[in-house]
Amino acid sequence: MIRFEDVCYAYDGRPVLRHADFTIAQGEATALSGPNGAGKSTLLRILNGLIFPEVGHYRFRGVEITAAKMREHRYAKAFHQQIGFVWQNPDIQLFCGSVAEELAFGPEQMGLPADEIKRRVEDALEFAGIAHLRERAPYTLSGGEKKKTAIASILTMNPAVWTLDEPLSALDEKSQQWLIEFLLALKKSGKTLIFSTHDGNLARHLADQEIRLDATHSCAVSRYA
Ligand SMILES: Nc1ncnc2c1ncn2[C@@H]1O[C@H](COP(=O)(O)OP(=O)(O)OP(=O)(O)O)[C@@H](O)[C@H]1O
Ligand SMILES: [Mg+2]
Repeated sequence: MIRFEDVCYAYDGRPVLRHADFTIAQGEATALSGPNGAGKSTLLRILNGLIFPEVGHYRFRGVEITAAKMREHRYAKAFHQQIGFVWQNPDIQLFCGSVAEELAFGPEQMGLPADEIKRRVEDALEFAGIAHLRERAPYTLSGGEKKKTAIASILTMNPAVWTLDEPLSALDEKSQQWLIEFLLALKKSGKTLIFSTHDGNLARHLADQEIRLDATHSCAVSRYA
């Protein structure tokens, strides 16, 4: 479903991904690990079509994702409906006036009927335990509440692929447990998951394979038994 072929990326000539080469099969979970600055968030940005390989190729369901491809409005829209991104810092992700609007934004962009949007928003509010926050402006929320709002706003789009950057960060123990159960349920329902984490237990608990980036920005893939 997802194929990175010898992908290299640099910021201002400083390499942060060197020859990343891996495949992610539909329905599998992949953990991205490695020290701070190794390139995990960068790799997730490439996966989401926000930046593009400078060397090598990224294919999503057989289609090469390039800057030119993402300028094709119809394709870009269809692509972004298939892959959701929960950012490391939810402040970047949340921009609507209220939590409920935030959750409705994705399905509105998809052109879904109003009653379907309402149903999805209510379900996601309930599911994430944030129904009481529906009218709140996202910038007034706590870090954990923002994270749950960000996750719920992807849930309402129901993408086939979920990418999550440090999903456990900012969450207390109870909310972490909730999120782990949620990710397991997503996986069980056939979704493809790619998440960065510093938590080796989460990786082993949830993932089928691990992509490890090291301080030299090289990339090694190993499968869990
Ligand atoms: N927009 C940018 N311009 C210049 N350098 C950047 C930019 N974004 C990231 N970098 C640098 O690229 C390197 C990789 O960053 P990235 O955010 O991908 O690492 P990471 O593995 O996600 O780290 P962390 O565990 O701290 O989140 C870092 O050295 C970072 O400073
Ligand atoms: Mg990061």
